[in-house]
Amino acid sequence: MNRATGLAVAAIVVGCSSDPASTGDGFVDSDLPKAADQNADPKVLEISLEAKVTSHGFVTGVATNAAWTYNGTIPGPLLDAKVGDRLIVHFKNSLPEATTVHWHGVRLPAAMDGTMATQKPIEPGATFTYDFTLKDAGLFWYHPHMRSDVQVHSGLYGVIRVRGGSEPEVEREEILVLDDLTLDKDGSIVMELDDESKMMGRGGDALLVNGVGGRTFTWRPGSRVRLRVVNAANGRFFNLALPGHKFRIIGGDAGLFPQPYDSDHILIAPGERWDAIVVPQGTGKLTLTSDPYDQGHDSGKNPALPVATIALAGDAMSPKPLPSSFPSFETLPDRPADQTLVFNEKLVGDGFVFTINDKTYPDVPVIDISNGEVRAFELKNEAEMDHPFHLHGFFFDVVAVNGKPLIPVIRKDTIIVPKKSSVKLVARFDEPGSWMYHCHILEHAEGGMAGEIHVK
Ligand code: C2O
Ligand code: CU
Repeated sequence: MNRATGLAVAAIVVGCSSDPASTGDGFVDSDLPKAADQNADPKVLEISLEAKVTSHGFVTGVATNAAWTYNGTIPGPLLDAKVGDRLIVHFKNSLPEATTVHWHGVRLPAAMDGTMATQKPIEPGATFTYDFTLKDAGLFWYHPHMRSDVQVHSGLYGVIRVRGGSEPEVEREEILVLDDLTLDKDGSIVMELDDESKMMGRGGDALLVNGVGGRTFTWRPGSRVRLRVVNAANGRFFNLALPGHKFRIIGGDAGLFPQPYDSDHILIAPGERWDAIVVPQGTGKLTLTSDPYDQGHDSGKNPALPVATIALAGDAMSPKPLPSSFPSFETLPDRPADQTLVFNEKLVGDGFVFTINDKTYPDVPVIDISNGEVRAFELKNEAEMDHPFHLHGFFFDVVAVNGKPLIPVIRKDTIIVPKKSSVKLVARFDEPGSWMYHCHILEHAEGGMAGEIHVK
């Protein structure tokens, strides 16, 4: 699935700059700390990454002594690269337990994918070098793939931004990494699983943006603010809204959409990324909220929650155009399903078990595919809650929802399969190796809602 081969001659692309570095005068970038590049070659980003236990302030005035971090920060360092760059990561595990690093959404050789299907655990004190080429522009993220429900919830996640050749022109870019947790009185993260967190994933009412609760972003009224959102929560779906405003949705997991569209919400499930532009209007303060969304089991009755404060400052800018198209690429046509995966929940003892075709990993039968084959997957969710499905190693085209063609088709690596619904995907499996697929509610994944595809 090489996007370059499918590139149609760009139609009229409004408001695009060809050089992403010159995004106009006064461009303000995300303030996420960047990883220091140790390599003089501009085509190589070479960094050191250490997973370690450090103190972190998630909430003002409360110190969490045993947060788990990459290089001491939550999120970990921003890996900022350009399409085609080589990424070399010298990883060291200074955690008290084994881990791996998975590069969520990045198309890479299987040996670099960081799962138990592709590498040995990196034991405490041990090192591993990840080395691969960033083939696609977009926003990706990295996180452990061992005991991911506990390790990610402890703070291990970070962002990879890969700039491409047709980035939109904006005045500001914010990367928003979303998460949620509950802190104990002593500041430690509540890890214990109760009925609710077994079902919906560990979380809590402390909503975090870039590792902290109650953040304020200061934006200029009338400016174009690009929001690149990653949901790193274990189980919470965020349904972002900025009251009185619309988002121009310009892209997602696999990069920019040929046909951007407007929406009042950005609904984002764990693992997903969305890319949007908002033009803040008014004076004073606005609240970015997560509005009620029913992901199942009565969660739709939860109230809207504040996610961040937007302080408007500076003179209002006069309106500038928003992008209305980006270069198109050829999507894979719909075809009869080659595979059906049925998601369900079963009451076992006093808790639920989430299954794929009535089985849990590693008993879910391996799907064998020959290198280069195109396959269609019908995902049928018979459960009472939504499950965000993630496929490693490949993008897929979402061609139909509940049997109806999706127009336009969207390309992603993680997709919400709503309760009692079906979603159809088509993908080309053009990289050999063992690849995982799983629900990205991490308690479900670790509980066995996962499988493997072997490409030979
Ligand atoms: Cu974001 Cu298998 O993971
Ligand atoms: Cu699930």
